[in-house]
Amino acid sequence: MKRMICIVLSVLLCFIAGCGKEEETHEPRLVLGFSQIGSESAWRIGNTRDIEEQAVNYGVGLMLENANQKQENQIAAIRRFIAYKVDVIAFSPVVEEGWDNVLTEAKKAGIPVILVDRDINTDIEGLTTCLIGADFYEEGVQAAEYIIRKADSLELEEVNIVEITGTEDSTPMRRRQAGFMDTIASDSRMHVLESVDGDFLKSRGTECMRYLLEKYGDMIDAVYSHNDEMTLGALKEIEKTELIPGQDIIIISIDGGQEAIDVLKEGKINCVVECTPRLGKALMETALKLKRGQEVEEVIHPEEKVFSDEEDVSQIGPRGY
Ligand code: AHR
Repeated sequence: MKRMICIVLSVLLCFIAGCGKEEETHEPRLVLGFSQIGSESAWRIGNTRDIEEQAVNYGVGLMLENANQKQENQIAAIRRFIAYKVDVIAFSPVVEEGWDNVLTEAKKAGIPVILVDRDINTDIEGLTTCLIGADFYEEGVQAAEYIIRKADSLELEEVNIVEITGTEDSTPMRRRQAGFMDTIASDSRMHVLESVDGDFLKSRGTECMRYLLEKYGDMIDAVYSHNDEMTLGALKEIEKTELIPGQDIIIISIDGGQEAIDVLKEGKINCVVECTPRLGKALMETALKLKRGQEVEEVIHPEEKVFSDEEDVSQIGPRGY
């Protein structure tokens, strides 16, 4: 009940805040239901903030629900959005499988669905209209290309890698792993000792690194971690040993949040592949197009960079997440 009151109040506030904009555009107000995965990382918190800010900028009434990392909460949120007859539903699926029933219900209700950040895996055609999110496979490729260049510059004959992966069965976990593995496959110096599931969490990053250090010790030449949160957790554990992070162990992260860039500047990690959380603008523009019955692009990938010790990292500006 309390949550329902909050949702209704926030939609009302959005309507009031965006009143002037409706007069300017003469467009009927768009109501967007968005189910966010949770608050597991600085990336996710930045992504939620960006979507809220862009909803205000575009005069969109946003019903935002946080699923606390649980798929069943996301399914229940989507059902509530259908019951409220929102104009467009958007969600970031925590895992790829298991959405057929609820998305078929949305389709039957005539509500278009936008995937934000992550993809789904389904055999049913036409359940979603568009995916707005990073090219995770390319991020894995970029991480692998960095480690290959690093091995060249250090003239390493063997590179023993441990991988700390994101949430099992999620799109970034699957594609960041595939892009990385496919790229190192042709380089005989590269050996992955083990891949462990860190669930995109800092605490799990610490636990995984503790386990990996106990098992492999100084055999580990490189850590490939699927997000900053887990990297920062792993770093804490490496710093408890005699190994010098960034020197004795090469560390590669993904996201590019402020804390990871700060430790990159300190030389404690070596490479950060950017994954931008700023998807709100494209989301609002796509939702507005759908409301107007206009065509939308099937996939929208934001532009992303790689930050590494190959450049002058002191020049990297504030990240905002
Ligand atoms: O889906 C994007 C990933 O999810 C980000 O890399 C991670 O930090 C987040 O939790």
